[in-house]
Amino acid sequence: MRTRVIAGNWKMHKTVAEGRALARAIREGLGGAPSCEVILAPPFTALEAVGAEIAGSPIGLAAQNVHWEEAGAFTGEISPRMLEDVGCSAVLIGHSERRQYFGETDRTVNLRVRAALRSTLAPIVCVGESLADRESGRHEDIVAQQLAGGLDGLTAGDLERIILAYEPVWAIGTGRTASPETAQEMHGFIRRTLAGKFGADAGRVRIVYGGSVKPDNTAALMRQPDIDGALVGGACLEAKSFLGIIRHEP
Ligand code: PGA
Repeated sequence: MRTRVIAGNWKMHKTVAEGRALARAIREGLGGAPSCEVILAPPFTALEAVGAEIAGSPIGLAAQNVHWEEAGAFTGEISPRMLEDVGCSAVLIGHSERRQYFGETDRTVNLRVRAALRSTLAPIVCVGESLADRESGRHEDIVAQQLAGGLDGLTAGDLERIILAYEPVWAIGTGRTASPETAQEMHGFIRRTLAGKFGADAGRVRIVYGGSVKPDNTAALMRQPDIDGALVGGACLEAKSFLGIIRHEP
């Protein structure tokens, strides 16, 4: 049985004060222990404040990126240890916006994943095809390539700490969610690909869907057998809609 996870990717939104207020509203709105794992991924500058706000609650804290070196002359970068230091338990790696705008490649994704695994951070590894890839029927090849590169050199044991996020680029921020069937098809493909590489442990990996997840489309997505949660962008920036997603989780 895989515990579902709902993660909110705040992207480049929220000051420290705004982040604190949002985290507090989510913590208070959750009430008791939620039936799924809940993770917040604020920008670096708000990590510590959000971490303080959710301390003692079941909500987890994630960063949106991590560098692969432990320390050194890498201006502008943040190491796994620094993220642990502010209370992070997870980190997003290889989000399509990093791939599209900041030169992220499968190789740098792999370096980050390995660095996270050397620390205590759980890597949330993002994969997904562009609209052109989907329209030309290459979507599975592209995702297979991202998995092969991003997870290169990992062992079946490493899989236990990893969460995969399938985020079709054409569905991110567009309001155009993948249908539950389309998403399930790819989630099934990802699980079979992982099983081919790592064996039976692939059955335990959580694969979450991302791309225009909203309160009203969550339940249908979550009913699919291989969809184990959601990575939410736009709808996680307000407590009401993020809590709506958490509650619609069946
Ligand atoms: P969206 O973003 O929910 O705004 O589509 C998802 C993501 O980029 O993680």
